Amino acid sequence: MFVGCKNESVGNMHVVWGITMKKYLACFLMVFIGGFYLTGCGQAKEGVQSKDLHRMNAPVYDAGYITVGFIQTGKESDWRDANTNDFLNTFTNERGYQLIYIDGNSDSNRQIKAAYDLIAQKVDYMIIDPIVEDGWEDVLKLAEQEGIPVIIADRGVSADASLYECWVGSDFKTEGIQAAKWLEDYLEENGRQDEALNIVILEGTEGASAAIGRTEGLMEEIKKHKNWNVLTSKCANFTQGEGKNVMEEILKQYKNINVVISENDNMMFGAMKAMDHAGVKYGVKGEVITISFDALKEAFQLMMKGELMVSVECNPLIAGSAEQVIQDLEQGKEVGKIQYVEESVFTYKNAAQHIANRKY
Ligand code: AHR
Repeated sequence: MFVGCKNESVGNMHVVWGITMKKYLACFLMVFIGGFYLTGCGQAKEGVQSKDLHRMNAPVYDAGYITVGFIQTGKESDWRDANTNDFLNTFTNERGYQLIYIDGNSDSNRQIKAAYDLIAQKVDYMIIDPIVEDGWEDVLKLAEQEGIPVIIADRGVSADASLYECWVGSDFKTEGIQAAKWLEDYLEENGRQDEALNIVILEGTEGASAAIGRTEGLMEEIKKHKNWNVLTSKCANFTQGEGKNVMEEILKQYKNINVVISENDNMMFGAMKAMDHAGVKYGVKGEVITISFDALKEAFQLMMKGELMVSVECNPLIAGSAEQVIQDLEQGKEVGKIQYVEESVFTYKNAAQHIANRKY
């Protein structure tokens, strides 16, 4: 399945697994009877070798643990690293979990195959951070048949909501609306509300709900302003490198940019490098208004310098909510289907006040 911007290639894969002894033995047998194409037990396709599988180093093989399979998107951004660490620090042996962590390596097919494998391993729960919304229906149906509860985290899926327990994450559309509303307020405060405004948007991965929601929210608000014009809206795949490359191309084509909206901080960091090289001044003292999403610590530093003007927070610390869902399900409690995390909007004006409390 295609993931990312068109003409993108995806990198190699890497998997780190933990597994209980019981399940290890089951998997071991499966390999010998020529079982699944991706078992996590050594004979996996697509370059996953047994040397990559660290199960033997797992400290505990104890059936008393709750086994959680966690399928991550990859390592596309600093936000993602914070999100991964949050899950690794939450689902620990000390807290009663055996975590099987899978790096999706920005490959949606890889994620889906890993989900089939986790079902074959009969994990107790699956947590999926899906790269893209589509393609999950069949594997979620199988998980349901096999009685494995699934929690969708961060980005959403387009599959029927009855196929998973709940979704925990950000309200991406609201984030997009908040970004556009900040722009509206800023222009008004500075008496610039009637100015003609040329906007460039750097979008996240095509098909990812974070990109879909933010773009929808942004466009809904942008359309309300007759004097706001989107010059171009291009996918830069949530990565810093692509943010820089895409912005370089845009700068060659357009000389009259007033606003850059980047759908995450890392793409904005890349776009800033491209603007530096092109001699384009941005931020509070420059000609280009800079808006992004995530609110990373590095973004706070740039906001304090006035280079980044606003970053709409996307909170990566959602593992605690996912764990609460598991605890509730263990006790037979009902869980809310949609669980939004708390988020704020930070600007060059209030960044200094908040930077000391930032966790990522
Ligand atoms: O899905 C959340 C988005 O994915 C974050 O905004 C981005 O930085 C990450 O890669």
